[in-house]
Amino acid sequence: MPVKPTDLNLAPLEGDLDRFEDLLEKNVQSDLPLMRVAARHVVLAGGKRLRPALALSCAYGINGLAPTTDDVLKGACAIELVHAGSLHHDDVIDNAKTRRAIPSVNVQFSNTVAILSGDYLLANASTLAAELGAAISSVLAETISQLAIGQIIEQQNLFDARRTREQYLSAIEGKTASLFASSCKIGAMVAGGEIETVEALNNYGYNIGMAFQIIDDLLDLTADEESLGKPSGHDVNEGVYTLPIILAADSDARVKEMLGDYLTPAELIEVLVIAREPKFIDQTYSLAKDYGLKAAESLAYANINTEVRDAFTSIIDGLLKRSF
Ligand code: IPE
Ligand code: IPE
Ligand code: MG
Ligand code: MG
Repeated sequence: MPVKPTDLNLAPLEGDLDRFEDLLEKNVQSDLPLMRVAARHVVLAGGKRLRPALALSCAYGINGLAPTTDDVLKGACAIELVHAGSLHHDDVIDNAKTRRAIPSVNVQFSNTVAILSGDYLLANASTLAAELGAAISSVLAETISQLAIGQIIEQQNLFDARRTREQYLSAIEGKTASLFASSCKIGAMVAGGEIETVEALNNYGYNIGMAFQIIDDLLDLTADEESLGKPSGHDVNEGVYTLPIILAADSDARVKEMLGDYLTPAELIEVLVIAREPKFIDQTYSLAKDYGLKAAESLAYANINTEVRDAFTSIIDGLLKRSF
């Protein structure tokens, strides 16, 4: 079961997401043919649009269920551009081959083009944020900084058989939860939410972001390539030891011994078979659920209407149950 923004079941969302797509398309233009085609490659290849949908929904929570303002759309667009820019860079870092079920930008063009067009997307996001004022600009800049820090933390522990759960959590906090948090924060700020509500929605976003990445990492181990749009077991193969692998290494000396270097195809299968044991999957899933609970608790402090509160509560379950 995929998670789609329409799962939020909020009446103006579909129409506003169409407006969002128009604005997004206008923000991936360039007179330079190579920049234009590279910048649009991932952005216009689909994607769940979860982060912009969260930004829009936070605004509905504050201002009611009506088509949103152009400023909120700009905020949502800036968020998706940061996301896309970070995917350009991430696919270079991870040596990925596919993204959004098409060849990733590094493969379609080159690492260099992926990096430069990724920079371009981040810059276009910054321009939009600047149009929304210094406070939004500052939130966006801090988020881009957190994304880079999260990715660096991950790099520090690459092929590290002794990577700890805490090191894993601080990496995903930076690389994923920070952007979910600021999606909600920016939506709420541009909508004029009061400070407690902005903070509560920021915390909601943070916690669902943590749960989202933990589940994403679980899917990398358990889901099949077709539904994932990328090969399974890729993380461990690239030296990124996610929570189920960390748990398996901590309780199985043979796994710990195999990690730390590139795996042969036979070793990869061996590691995957162990990491897929129910106890490791269950412990991982249970941590994701804890973040889901914290997300629900965060909502208690938000002064938002019932429709959005209910939608935000029910999407937590959808995120925990998603299969891709
Ligand atoms: C991918 O995010 C990067 C992660 C944080 C795991 P999404 O799964 O939201 O990617 P798209 O936008 O739907 O392609
Ligand atoms: C995604 O991390 C986080 C960012 C894009 C910053 P991953 O490397 O785990 O995500 P996928 O699996 O490539 O989507
Ligand atoms: Mg990746
Ligand atoms: Mg990565």
